[in-house]
Amino acid sequence: MNIAIVGCGFVFDIYMRTIQAHPEINIKGVFDINENRSKRVGEYYGFNVYSSYEAILVDPGVDTVINLTWISAHFEVSKKALEAGKNVYSEKPITKSVEQSAILFDIAKQNGVRLYAAPCNIFSDMVRTIFKSVQDGAIGKPLLVYAELDDSPIHLMNFDKVTSPTGAPWPLEEELKEGCTYEHLGYHLVWICGLLGPATSVTAFSSELIADKTKGMPGMVGTPDYSVACLNFASGAVARITCSFVAPRDHRLRVIGRDGEVVGDSYRQYQSPVYLERYTSTSLNARKFKTLRSHPLLGRLFGIGGRRIKLVKNWKSIAVEKDQQIKSSLVRKLIEWVRRREVYSQDKFVGIAEMAEELRLGREQYLSPHFLMHINELTMLVQAAGPNGVATKPVTTFVPLGPIPGTITN
Ligand SMILES: NC(=O)c1ccc[n+]([C@@H]2O[C@H](COP(=O)([O-])OP(=O)(O)OC[C@H]3O[C@@H](n4cnc5c(N)ncnc54)[C@H](O)[C@@H]3O)[C@@H](O)[C@H]2O)c1
Repeated sequence: MNIAIVGCGFVFDIYMRTIQAHPEINIKGVFDINENRSKRVGEYYGFNVYSSYEAILVDPGVDTVINLTWISAHFEVSKKALEAGKNVYSEKPITKSVEQSAILFDIAKQNGVRLYAAPCNIFSDMVRTIFKSVQDGAIGKPLLVYAELDDSPIHLMNFDKVTSPTGAPWPLEEELKEGCTYEHLGYHLVWICGLLGPATSVTAFSSELIADKTKGMPGMVGTPDYSVACLNFASGAVARITCSFVAPRDHRLRVIGRDGEVVGDSYRQYQSPVYLERYTSTSLNARKFKTLRSHPLLGRLFGIGGRRIKLVKNWKSIAVEKDQQIKSSLVRKLIEWVRRREVYSQDKFVGIAEMAEELRLGREQYLSPHFLMHINELTMLVQAAGPNGVATKPVTTFVPLGPIPGTITN
């Protein structure tokens, strides 16, 4: 698939970490309204730099535009590309309003092209493994999901000094302005709705807890830095998702069924270990003991937390696990190895790879427009819930997704 990337900021370099595992994707060029950024990434990665966005739109060699601009520019950038007859893969959220997102899907339909959107962690090995455990009946009927996305009080973590390999500053101000819900809720919504289907009701609360997050930045910016939502599903299952820029990092995903639970550590590690516990009266009663609770290794002897299970792999995982760093010194490779093992390892290109595969084979869009609209609507509802909370029924819905494509069996 021939793509052009628009927006060459911080996340651009995260995408680039795994590009060498994706020979099916051909980057025709890049563009950023900040000329320095497109020039810099063009030189660093050896990409063609377009002189304007319009130059991409009229290039017949580009079939898909990857929209990595900041959130407030998503709508205009995607709209122009769809109108020009290009497919679009957009960073999340697609737009900041359900109405705008609906306009984009309508334009895509009229022009016979497709609109896809991040996040793509539903294609990760961890999510595949959780889905397989549930679908194999390992935990009995799924009843409850607890999904955490506490991503730390980022204003205390020196993020203003963090830059990407090509020197893009981590956009601290933008993250605080848009907030943890816009930035992160989607990572849990995609796999939860993928597993349980559309939400039939949402009870949500959001609030801004910390003023004066950084020196020189406005105090209360009016964006929630904490949100919590309970989703109800037609099957009777319930999910509770918490997002914050307040509490220290906790990204755990837990699916609790009648007979046990399956747990992953972080959406941000695509090969995150997955643990399966089939409840026994011993493992449930053992939790009453403080010592067993506070010493996980001892607790495991009594079945608390279950056992680690073999990961179900995505067709791209093996290529991604190899060192994909471009222009890396030995020291850099070591640092990257530690990062992938300990901090995060995402293949941001895997969603684009799935898109390329669907287009090549003429398959239906797996993350369907209705699914993406639903994720978008839920995100907006939770962000806007406010400190008095809301209980509402989403207006969007979707046909439940089938099995996740791209699984390899050995
Ligand atoms: N920063 C992260 O860790 C991260 C992680 C995952 C996803 N994202 C998502 O990726 C997107 C971009 O985030 P980022 O961190 O790279 O932000 P950023 O601010 O570092 O980069 C955005 C870039 O888009 C460019 N841009 C803005 N409007 C444009 C336009 N109309 N045409 C061309 N270029 C334009 C800006 O000049 C800037 O270089 C956001 O949707 C964000 O939610 C970010």
